[in-house]
Amino acid sequence: MTDSHPNRVESAAGEARFNRLLNTLKQAVGAVILFGPPGAGKGTQARGIGRRLGVPHISTGDMLRLQVSAGTSTGRDARAIMEQGALIPDDWVNHMVETRLREPDCRGGFVLDGYPRTRGQAAALDKMLSNNGTQMKVFNIVVGYNEIIRRTTGRRLCPRCGTIYNIYVKPPREPNLCDRDQTPLEIRIDDREDVIRERIQAYEKQTRPVIEYLREQKQAVYEVDGSLPPEKISEQLVEILTAP
Ligand code: AP5
Repeated sequence: MTDSHPNRVESAAGEARFNRLLNTLKQAVGAVILFGPPGAGKGTQARGIGRRLGVPHISTGDMLRLQVSAGTSTGRDARAIMEQGALIPDDWVNHMVETRLREPDCRGGFVLDGYPRTRGQAAALDKMLSNNGTQMKVFNIVVGYNEIIRRTTGRRLCPRCGTIYNIYVKPPREPNLCDRDQTPLEIRIDDREDVIRERIQAYEKQTRPVIEYLREQKQAVYEVDGSLPPEKISEQLVEILTAP
């Protein structure tokens, strides 16, 4: 069979059409920002949307945790701040994000998870995006205090593939082992209850006001009910993101 076989030609044309559609969708995706308190479900949703829309999921928390596990001096500094439930200084995080957004896979759009979380970060992001005219779509995931505590204390992570579990609502099939690669699951260094309370305070003081700031800047902000099951939330997000 040669490349000129009708089926091969048809499937190549179909693939080209699919890629064109995906590129249009990526351009329309722009900068998707998942916003909300610790444990709101930002990571869970960002990972799913990134996969479904074919754009990278960029989590500043994951990037920092990578530095922590690499054991570099930067990682040690990050660990000391994260263990207290405080925020990493703006300059550091802004530089990290700016560097990541320059990579070619971000050209068609990306999902930001956990950034921006101060007014300084929001202003820096605005500047980064206005350089190439990328639009922001902000999803503010709203969840109550007790649910935040339950979700964060019950969270378990696969250190190899990053899959997020929860011992109460989304347990792995075998206790403490990742369903995908059977790696033993871990508890995050900042998921102790006393640290979670500090993280919530940092959120209330420094991060929650960012939503108002983004609204003042006339960015598109959508409220999302984070108490719904994850699949329902994903459906809502994808519907908004793919609406004409
Ligand atoms: P980061 O990693 O960003 O943590 P966070 O914002 O506190 O949010 P979490 O990761 O705790 O929760 P999430 O909303 O992603 O929820 P998840 O999907 O995991 O930051 C960690 C630290 O790094 C910060 O404290 C700071 O020190 C530093 N940092 C990071 N970014 C920074 C920045 N920009 N500036 C400065 N410092 C920064 O879900 C939680 C659990 O709930 C899971 O077990 C999940 O299975 C479950 N779940 C999810 N959705 C649902 C649902 N709909 N129903 C029921 N259960 C659900």
